[in-house]
Amino acid sequence: MIYAANFKTNHTRKSTQAYLEALNKKLDAKKSEDKVYIFPPMTALDIYEGAFTVGTQNAYPVHNGAITGEIGLEQLDEFDIKTILIGHSERREVLNESQDKVSQKFSFYKAENFEIIYCIGEPLHIREQGFESVIHYLREQFDGIDMHYEKLIIAYEPIWAIGTGRSATTDEIRTTHSALKQVIPDVPLLYGGSVKPANIKEITEISGVDGVLVGSASLDVESFSQMVLS
Ligand code: 13P
Repeated sequence: MIYAANFKTNHTRKSTQAYLEALNKKLDAKKSEDKVYIFPPMTALDIYEGAFTVGTQNAYPVHNGAITGEIGLEQLDEFDIKTILIGHSERREVLNESQDKVSQKFSFYKAENFEIIYCIGEPLHIREQGFESVIHYLREQFDGIDMHYEKLIIAYEPIWAIGTGRSATTDEIRTTHSALKQVIPDVPLLYGGSVKPANIKEITEISGVDGVLVGSASLDVESFSQMVLS
């Protein structure tokens, strides 16, 4: 299983250091085949030692240059960061990142051999139109993306389940993951959206779920490590 924590705009450099130290102690008990990823805010990126991989929540597709407010490859290289989240719905929706921009980032960081957690997910009005609309919408989020990239992980995160406390039902997750697995059978597929200690077991037991991407419930190290060790 893959357990990924997306801190979003939470935690500081100092609290991330304390978190990772505490987490690493807990990870002594983790199954060796399980993988843990942490995506802290950019100000907390650093070289950390431990049984986890630190990645960036975002980066611009440049080595360096004049892109005010963004970071590029040079800033990631400083801390040996080789893992990136691309296509998170908050960047698509709040920051208006188009599919075109998302796929440019994908191609750039693929060319740099990054491990990419690529996020897809539908808004509520699409879910309400029925399953065919959902699958059609999700497939459009594959436009310009190399689905055969060997360092690709997909995270399916229905937008209506993010930060709402209402996870998708096990049936909704099972049917959506199974449809996605028909398109991308060999790509690890994570579920994200209100994953928490109370529902981790039932979610990771669903066939077609290879791991989870956790927001709010990952912010507390006890809660996240409880999920990893569940
Ligand atoms: P929540 O776990 O807070 O719903 O967030 C999910 C998410 O967006 C992870 O990337």
